[in-house]
Amino acid sequence: MPADGDLAEAAAVLRTGGLVAFPTETVYGLGANALDARAAARIFEAKQRPSFDPLITHLADVADLEPLVGALPAGVAALAERFWPGPLTLIVDRPAVIPPIVTSGLDTMAVRVPDHEHARRLIAAAGVPVAAPSANRFGQLSPTRAEHVVRGLGAAVEVVLDGGPTRCGIESTIVDARGERAVVLRLGALPVEEVEKVTGPVTVRLGNSGQPVAPGALASHYAPRTPLRLLATGESAAEGRDRWGYLAFRDRPRPGWAAVEVLSASGDVTEAAARLFEALHRLDAAGVSEIVAEPVPETGVGRAVNDRLRRAAATWQPAG
Ligand code: TXA
Ligand code: MG
Repeated sequence: MPADGDLAEAAAVLRTGGLVAFPTETVYGLGANALDARAAARIFEAKQRPSFDPLITHLADVADLEPLVGALPAGVAALAERFWPGPLTLIVDRPAVIPPIVTSGLDTMAVRVPDHEHARRLIAAAGVPVAAPSANRFGQLSPTRAEHVVRGLGAAVEVVLDGGPTRCGIESTIVDARGERAVVLRLGALPVEEVEKVTGPVTVRLGNSGQPVAPGALASHYAPRTPLRLLATGESAAEGRDRWGYLAFRDRPRPGWAAVEVLSASGDVTEAAARLFEALHRLDAAGVSEIVAEPVPETGVGRAVNDRLRRAAATWQPAG
């Protein structure tokens, strides 16, 4: 836990329009005062993020939502009640106090209460809602450790709070529960099955068009710098290549790879999610010329892991 002084200083940086990177249970966020359009603009600059990709607003407590946005649709209230604090982002109407740059001009706003002491104490101390995308440059791997943030964003961020590795390892699940049937807009750390226990059957609509409702959903996203090839389910890479890296779900591949990462030796998809970005960061740093990745079982949070791997692999082309 950071010293109270460090938190107070970070909160002051937020209040005065600066950027603070902080841990959440999913990934590290790059925070700015969500009431301050200029502060929010600095996020887009630091991340080199296109202005059509809206930010998620973070609150310290479930009780802070209604005062900000007014009465909630029943589906939204039920999910907030059940899963906050936690890795779930909900879509609500954008309140007038939130400047349009935060939502990229949409009249809706994505909002969540993170399940992490540092994050909640920071937001509470700042006394303002905090807009925070993942603390990485646009399109690159999400940060699950403070050192990933420093390596990726460097001088662009004033303060990085270090909370060690994040627990979930992938981003929050995004759900629009305003209508009759809830719509999942991004697969994430909260499995769809859990959402459905509250909402009943959902529609999963993962955008990959240019539409801003497509959350984190450009076809190519979450990508390591190294080209990544995703194997088909059950396909095994016949042999290693001495300059290639291998991302395995549970079993080590036969020898011959330059670098190997195993996501979960016990075959647990939740552990695999927690380790995904860290493993990709390491393979990227290993200097391999290609990463070959296995899909994980398509159950629970495994669905969100495979979604990230597919996006990371979207630009792969065979070496010519
Ligand atoms: O776990 C997380 O959600 C992390 C941590 C830091 O909280 N944050 C995160 O933010 O993943 P970011 O900016 O990397 O992804 C936010 C996604 C964007 O892809 C955006 O398209 C979607 O949320 N989004 C934001 N506002 C939206 C809205 N009003 N309607 C639909 N999607 C929205
Ligand atoms: Mg992101």
